Amino acid sequence: MRAVDIIINKREKGELTQEEINFFVQGFVKGDIPDYQVSAWAMAVLLNGMTPQETTDLTLAMVLSGRILDLSGVVDIAVDKHSSGGVGDKTTLTVLPTVAACGLPVGKMSGRGLGFSGGTLDKLESIPGYRVDLNTDEFKKQLKEKGIVLTGQSMDLAPADGKLYALRDVTGTVPSIPLIASSIMSKKIAAGANAIVLDVKVGKGAFMETLDMARELANLMTQIGDLAGRKTICLLSDMNQPLGNAVGNALEVKEAIDALKGGGSADFREHCLHVSAHMLAVGKRARDLDEGRRLAEKAIADGSAFEKFRVLVQAQGGDVSYVDDPDKLPRAKFVEVVKVHRSGWLSQVDARSVGEASVALGAGRAKKSDAVDHAVGFLIHHKVGDRVEKGEPLFTIHANDEKKQAEARERVLAAHVFCDEPASSLPLFYE
Ligand code: URA
Repeated sequence: MRAVDIIINKREKGELTQEEINFFVQGFVKGDIPDYQVSAWAMAVLLNGMTPQETTDLTLAMVLSGRILDLSGVVDIAVDKHSSGGVGDKTTLTVLPTVAACGLPVGKMSGRGLGFSGGTLDKLESIPGYRVDLNTDEFKKQLKEKGIVLTGQSMDLAPADGKLYALRDVTGTVPSIPLIASSIMSKKIAAGANAIVLDVKVGKGAFMETLDMARELANLMTQIGDLAGRKTICLLSDMNQPLGNAVGNALEVKEAIDALKGGGSADFREHCLHVSAHMLAVGKRARDLDEGRRLAEKAIADGSAFEKFRVLVQAQGGDVSYVDDPDKLPRAKFVEVVKVHRSGWLSQVDARSVGEASVALGAGRAKKSDAVDHAVGFLIHHKVGDRVEKGEPLFTIHANDEKKQAEARERVLAAHVFCDEPASSLPLFYE
């Protein structure tokens, strides 16, 4: 079997066999198939798609590329969550401590930024010392002792996804339904989850721009979850505008901490409560969503959710003084408040443009080896549907380079669209 023939087969819209997929994935992980061939293959998959069978085979091949974590002796039900990727999506940072504070132990392996969407690991690394490289023994020990873990994908779990994810980020091959479905599900299955809450983002700032595409991704992932014997729930949530106010690593950590203390933007808080309620219900810590929500609200109100975040940061070597005083987090040299230039209603805040502008400021990567700048990003002060008056703050830029700051100003100004008639606000969840 030759890698080039598999690439050609996919280029010609053929259906790959399980044997071909296994050969390709194993060859990639062993280093026998180089990045350039895998990039060409990923582009062929992006353009020509995969059948549900091929996607399931790809998922299982990625799962089998490494170990499978067995959490049965550690927790009663291993519940995991995953977002399909968005702009300003710092949900994990708030939801994980919240549900852990409610008595549901949660261990999660997260990823880095992908394309225009941010990544939890990049955000966490804004906290000096925070380790995102726990091995599986450390993962299990911390989960048992502290009831919360938030780390990077361990090298020995689904290593094929780790390698492919980094390559897709820089080859324009992210927004492919089969590649996203297999990437997410391989990680979740390998990480030992019994039940999985998937937050599938829909809209301009998501890889799935339409509800139909999001449903297709959700159905595919649920199907794969069922086949693997994992209870899988998908929420379809809005990503036309950024979630919350902050976009950019340290800025998002600060907003997540605000939300853990009952503050922060209302949309983000509400989003977190809804996801937490689902996790608590599926993890059998709550009888239903109403009870899950009440428990989550209580954990935030009584300070236990915030305390759990401190426990997490401390357990993973982070300097907890940055959690206690988020103003210590990395700060940009230039902070500019851009004002509203005309009164009206906001009919659009294009999340993708904001995400791309944030990457251009340095918050994400253009090449695999790029370092991210934790300090840069935006605070977006208004939501679609808001009435805004000329001269009010519209957004704040945090930049470390004046030229990039000027470019960001133009891009994010253009991302805001005003109209003279009242504009409807956007729902948080569609389904
Ligand atoms: N999140 C993932 O884990 N993988 C993708 O491919 C996209 C979003």
